[in-house]
Amino acid sequence: MTEATQRRIAITTGGGDAPGLNAVIRAVAVSSHWRGWEVLGIRHGYRGLIEPDPSGIVTLDRNAVRGITHLGGSILGTASRGDPFNYPVKIGDQVVARDVSDQVIERAQTLGISAFVVVGGDGSLRLASRLLAKGLPRVVAVPKTIDNDLEGTDQTFGFDTAVSTATEALDKLHTTAQAHERVMVVEVMGRYAGWIALHAGIAGGADVILIPEIPFAIERVNEKIKRRESRGRPFSIVVVAEGARPRGGEMVVKQTDNFHEPRLGGIAELVAQWITEGTGKETRSLVLGHLQRGGSPVTTDRLLALRMGCAATNFLADRSESGVVALRCGELEFVPLSVATRGIRTVTLNSNVLQTGRDLGLCFGDEPEGFFLPSAGPSLPPTGSENSLGGSGD
Ligand code: F6P
Repeated sequence: MTEATQRRIAITTGGGDAPGLNAVIRAVAVSSHWRGWEVLGIRHGYRGLIEPDPSGIVTLDRNAVRGITHLGGSILGTASRGDPFNYPVKIGDQVVARDVSDQVIERAQTLGISAFVVVGGDGSLRLASRLLAKGLPRVVAVPKTIDNDLEGTDQTFGFDTAVSTATEALDKLHTTAQAHERVMVVEVMGRYAGWIALHAGIAGGADVILIPEIPFAIERVNEKIKRRESRGRPFSIVVVAEGARPRGGEMVVKQTDNFHEPRLGGIAELVAQWITEGTGKETRSLVLGHLQRGGSPVTTDRLLALRMGCAATNFLADRSESGVVALRCGELEFVPLSVATRGIRTVTLNSNVLQTGRDLGLCFGDEPEGFFLPSAGPSLPPTGSENSLGGSGD
């Protein structure tokens, strides 16, 4: 066998899907093809290596990946209950947890897989580290999540598409909110990070944005809504991240089980209720939910996904260690897995995007309108009720 043909690599997509997964799969398959490598697709995370069904593993030749760059979802499927160390196995009527990680390692060895491209979020990357420690061959990870909360990379693909979907929804909600003079409270995804709420809220002209990083006081939100009303703006748009919580309160968990991260959801309905109680305004709430994960990736996500997929192949060819493809200052770099798995990346309070929201007069449920960080400049108006720079009261 020549150097060019000796490699057989595998690709898996695990965790929640994100627009751009298929673009990564195509990029890995095509760029590997030029190198003479064979690419196997493992279906539904590691499930294809665990279950006996032979269709769990597919060959990704050039034909298999034609015309998929613009498609949402994943041609390989994904799995959010596919942790081989805590794998759900049905015994009679019961589902019990089993450690089947040895099976994954053995199957990978039997198939002669020399390296894995793991496309996943923090959970998938942590799993990859544990499997590496047990003997999985090399891993190059491509970071994926609409939440944009992965450490080590400036952005994950899927985020821009989710933000675009949420922004479009806010544009539409403005007209109905205005017509009925209502407050619309919109819940967006993001888990423990407020990136989607922050970006979509600012771009979509929201009046209030509530994120997990800033526990909110509902009084501040109600003041903002009443102030708008007194200025002749009797409607408001409130964006709530699913992980947002009131000061001294907890995140709202919708469901928990042994095989899955707790599912968040329900805070928008509560916020809407508190707004009605505090302002007397008619209020409606809605949850954008999985709409944010669906559909075609926007251009920036497609490009990022294609770039990351090709970079994964190049890193496999040029380097010998495991690691993650990361976007840093516009360039793709190779960072250790330990960097990407050391925690999640949340919105920092000195973030420029957050400050942009404050400069525009948006309410984050913490400070009165017109609040500026000390670093924002010397000639600042006093904080307090309204000020001449007062923000979005328009
Ligand atoms: O991590 C991506 C994400 O969409 C989160 O924003 C959300 O909390 C979660 O996944 C939803 O997971 P599921 O698809 O299991 O409902």
